Amino acid sequence: MSAHFAASPEQERLSGTELWPWRRELLRLGGAPADFDWLLDLAGGVDGHSRHRLRLQPELSVVLGCSLGEIEGLWHRHLSEKIPLQYLVGVCPWRDLELLVGPGALIPRQETELLVELALEHARALPAGWPRRWADLGSGSGCLAVALALAFPEAQGCAVDCSAEALHHTDANLQRAGVRGRVAQLKGSWWAPLEVVWGQLDLVLSNPPYIPSADVSLLDPVVRWHEPHLALDGGADGLDAVRSIAAGALQALAPGGWLLLEHHHDQSSAVCSLLSAAGLEAVVAHKDLEGHCRFVQARRPLSLDD
Ligand SMILES: C[S@@+](CC[C@H](N)C(=O)[O-])C[C@H]1O[C@@H](n2cnc3c(N)ncnc32)[C@H](O)[C@@H]1O
Repeated sequence: MSAHFAASPEQERLSGTELWPWRRELLRLGGAPADFDWLLDLAGGVDGHSRHRLRLQPELSVVLGCSLGEIEGLWHRHLSEKIPLQYLVGVCPWRDLELLVGPGALIPRQETELLVELALEHARALPAGWPRRWADLGSGSGCLAVALALAFPEAQGCAVDCSAEALHHTDANLQRAGVRGRVAQLKGSWWAPLEVVWGQLDLVLSNPPYIPSADVSLLDPVVRWHEPHLALDGGADGLDAVRSIAAGALQALAPGGWLLLEHHHDQSSAVCSLLSAAGLEAVVAHKDLEGHCRFVQARRPLSLDD
């Protein structure tokens, strides 16, 4: 949301002349300029367009969505306690959505947006009405489930997570997007809570925990201290979750159903091998925008006798 360039008397205003020295002062304490601008946008409503105008015409002023003191307080907490700004502000823009986020659910990452694009690509190549039934394994904030529910309004969806806290966020975001009635929310481990629809899932997306346990302790404190380790830690080699998902895929997917997975930057060949060994076909790796193989697609054969 863009900041307003006019104010009623009780609202706090910020001119370009005030903004830049104030911003410099706060960045002197630490942190990244992009993060500060993100905070200014999400908490204060001063987006990139407004900042640009205030740079060109410093005499202009904007109306802030909250007080300068509040923004300063959030920045100080981010720097001193290493709390992710998304948790402090309570929202995270992702694709064309603004998702509610908080401790207990992973903050949705930008690369995961591509998993949705991959699903949409499959849908474009398949007959209208596909998928009739989809699932999101490890739904967390519900980012994938919300995107799928909006993209496939005729389909029935299932969002699975073993964490009650994560499902709380999934529920809040499904509700916010107005799609809660079309998505069953199921608590349990991977395929298990989906048993009643095994063999009927046309499309399954998952961004499982995939960081090798030893590497979790090396993550930036902003991630390591505050984001749920259940969402990050993939076991000794990072592939525990992928092994479980691969093991149940043949039974749970519909004939011809697709599984689309996100994984760590160095796991592509291991994930492809696990999916092929599990009896899936058309196993293909996909790259992220930096050119790293970060996604894999695989399909259940139409006939299991092939
Ligand atoms: C990397 S996060 C992904 C969250 C969300 N889908 C996203 O892309 O931002 C992995 C999710 O898997 C969940 N999870 C971990 N182990 C699980 C299990 N055995 N069964 C179901 N979900 C699990 C975690 O709670 C977490 O929400």
